[in-house]
Order: sequence, then C-alpha cells, then structure tokens
Amino acid sequence: MKKRVTKAIFPVAGLGTRFLPATKSVPKEIMTLVDRPLIQYAIDEAREAGIKEFIFVTSRGKSALEDYFDHSPELEAKLRRDGKTELLEALEDTYMDSGAIAYMRQHKPLGLGHAVWCARRLIGDEPFAVILPDDVISAEKSCLSQMVEAHAETGGCMVAAMEVSQQKTSSYGILDLKEDHGSIVSVKGMVEKPKAGTAPSNLAVIGRYILTPDVLKNLNKIEAGAGGEVQLTDAIAAEINHDRGVFGYRFRGERFDCGSKAGFLQATVAFGLAREELGDEFGQYLSEMVAMRSAAQ
Ligand code: G1P
Repeated sequence: MKKRVTKAIFPVAGLGTRFLPATKSVPKEIMTLVDRPLIQYAIDEAREAGIKEFIFVTSRGKSALEDYFDHSPELEAKLRRDGKTELLEALEDTYMDSGAIAYMRQHKPLGLGHAVWCARRLIGDEPFAVILPDDVISAEKSCLSQMVEAHAETGGCMVAAMEVSQQKTSSYGILDLKEDHGSIVSVKGMVEKPKAGTAPSNLAVIGRYILTPDVLKNLNKIEAGAGGEVQLTDAIAAEINHDRGVFGYRFRGERFDCGSKAGFLQATVAFGLAREELGDEFGQYLSEMVAMRSAAQ
C-alpha cells in the first residue's frame, strides 16, 4: 500500500532582505495578507491536504513565528469575557495539536536544500511535502491537495509547476520535459536558475513538493550548486533515473510570488477583493484609483 503524505517541511529560515526594513524585526512569514500572516496560508493548505505533522526550519530572529502558534491565554480570556466569539474563532486556525509542530534550527544560510536536509531526522521512511510560504496559491482545491491526489498515481517525486515567461526562467528551477500529459509531466532534467538563454523549457518549479526520503540521502552528498547554495532542485534531479522518477504537476490556481514586493501587493489586491466583507468597498476604491490614473495620463 502507498504511504500517505502526513508530514510537511516549511523552510522559514530566510532573512527576507527584500522586505527590509520591515523584516528587520518581523519574520517575513509573519507579514500579513489582509489579516492572516503568510505562514497561515501555508498551514491552511497543508491541513487541507491531510498533513498532520508540521516541521519548521527556522533561524535566529524567528521567535515571533513560534509564538504565533502558541495559545494566548490572556487574549483568549479577554475575548471570551467580552463575548467576541468571532474573534475567538479566528484564533482557532492558529492552534496546533500538542506534538504536531516541530522546530529545527538551520544554523547557517546554506540554501534551500540544506534547510530541508536539517529536518531529515524528523522524516521517516515515507514521502513528505515541502511548502515554501513565499509562494501563495489561491485555488478552489488547494495546490498541495491536488498534488497529493496526482502523486497517489505517479509515486516518485513531484513538484508544482507553472509556465513562466522566457525572461523569468533564470529566477526558478526549470524542468526539462520527457512526456507531457497535460497536468502531469514526466521530467528528464531539472536545472536551478539557468542562465539566460539556456533554460530547457519555460516550465518552472513552484514552491510545493512531494518528495521521497531518498532526496534527503541525496542532500547528504551533493555539493553547492547555483548561487553557491545547496539546491533542493539538484537533490530532486538526482532521482530522475531512479525508482519512480520525477514529475511536474501543473496545478489549477493562481500563484503569487510573495517573496517580491510586486507579488505581495498583487496578492493583497486579489485576497482583499475575494473577501466578502471587503470586496465591494475595496473594489470600488481600486476602480476609482485606476480611472484617476488613466485620466491623469
Ligand atoms: C526556490 C527554488 C526554485 C523554485 C522557487 C519557487 O527558489 O530553489 O527552484 O523555482 O523557489 O518559488 P527561491 O525563490 O527561494 O530562490
């Protein structure tokens, strides 16, 4: 019987320098889309996909992230006294079952592959997920749930994938396709951040992965790759000719690059408009702004 995917690693050790000065004292994963921190979107997605154990790879200065998942007895008592049931309910999603959450420290910023490797002892002999909270994906059925379903058929390693423009391929892991079956593609090569003009396709890896424990073994061996960092892409690529191989999954949904300012703003607009209590007022404001801008041009 196939093993279910019940563990997810969340690499959250990055410094978030693109958002300085905000990230001088606030971890970037705590930055807020409407009223939920980025990390909450990642957790919600993992839960929907059936994840039961949440492993955070953190670094110095991330204590706000750990506190976020704690109970806050004074706050709860006050909300209860004041009869603020809706707000109490809003806190529900931030709670974790005891023992369901683990923190592993990445002591040196040696790359995404190294961050995932730091969690190796918490992963047994079963496939596991990796979620990069910078990539926020809005979808009817969450991206990771879609992947868990597809993975039940393919086995092996699976990465979320999306077409990007040719100019942007150098910012991503890029897939070299063997067979294209529409939503599922089999992969014959993977390259991290290829130099301009050398990308094997424009199908990019997006931050959702379902990986076999063999990838962790590969991470024991591989050397630093693109950018002088230990790359997860390289450790996955080493699985291409082994066992079940590597697959890309073209998910249904819209992905926002919340690791960039423009992407974060776009996500704020999209999630703000999608909120029942905000959508009308916010939408009207945006239309007025757009009309004013075009009149001024
Ligand atoms: C990471 C991965 C890259 C992937 C990207 C998706 O890069 O290394 O393969 O395409 O996430 O967001 P980063 O954006 O952390 O440099």
